[in-house]
Amino acid sequence: MVLTSDNMKMDVISVLDIQDRVKELLRIAGEIKKKYKNGEPFTPLEGKSLGMIFEKPSTRTRISFEVGMTQLGGHALYLSPKDLQLGRGETIADTAKVLSRYVDGIMYRAFKNEMMVELAENATVPVINGLDDVEHPCQIMADLLTIREKKGTFDDQHLVYVGDGNNVCNSLLLGGAVVGMDVTACTPKGYEPHEGIFDKARQIGRETGADISLSSSPEDAVKDATIIYTDVWISMGEEEEKERRMKDFKGFEVNDKLVSLATDQVIVMHCLPAHRGVEISASVMDGPHSVVFNQAENRLHAQKAIMAEVMG
Ligand code: CP
Ligand code: NVA
Repeated sequence: MVLTSDNMKMDVISVLDIQDRVKELLRIAGEIKKKYKNGEPFTPLEGKSLGMIFEKPSTRTRISFEVGMTQLGGHALYLSPKDLQLGRGETIADTAKVLSRYVDGIMYRAFKNEMMVELAENATVPVINGLDDVEHPCQIMADLLTIREKKGTFDDQHLVYVGDGNNVCNSLLLGGAVVGMDVTACTPKGYEPHEGIFDKARQIGRETGADISLSSSPEDAVKDATIIYTDVWISMGEEEEKERRMKDFKGFEVNDKLVSLATDQVIVMHCLPAHRGVEISASVMDGPHSVVFNQAENRLHAQKAIMAEVMG
């Protein structure tokens, strides 16, 4: 939810927090990207600092936020919990209060959404979710930017997510619903997305004209797909479930056969990191339908728009 306090700070914990701003933020991200490509400086965050707490590893999120802050004229600090006093028992609330006295925004990659919310409630500066166990809103903003670039519109698009009903899937349902794009979450039974988020996405979809649905058959689900999306079967923190998940997700690989069942112009998306031969075949990942590296690139531009919005 948008946490708006006396100082009007705006947190981005869920796609819902920026629900009314998604389309405008995508427009701004497009402008920022154009400026960057033309070599025009855009430095609205001069003199500002972003603290980045990572409880889990990251390639894209860390680098795109850090580089993004530099490009916006500011500075980012990488903060590992094992180096912070957080790792020795200082509370997340105290950490939030202290960081707020130094930095102008906090990006947090957390194991638990409850910790994300607690940090946001105690910080007096904006908090941006860099992934938790429930959502990955910044990823979805980059994905929507990529879809808009590749398809020109969200109308008449049908995104079929094939895989685990995880954080990325949850945020995609909300993001798709907000922009009026049909989204089907196709997961094995028992791995459906968050029930409350699915219901909320359906409710938003009824207003925006997006059909939000569930499936457990990849072959049926992708039949009119214009976009196929997948993510890892084992998210960070679920490593001990590997054996069971590898069995349960059999038949959910996004491979040439599955892609051939979708529309001719289908694009294939993955938030990365990917495991070729597990959730996606090498031929699809590296094939002509794949836009996965465009998505990765767009993390930079989408997040610059978010940071300029909430910290500017
Ligand atoms: N997609 C994504 O968030 O990647 P990282 O885990 O590398 O940040
Ligand atoms: N669902 C994955 C996304 C990684 C970017 C995870 O949480 O590990």
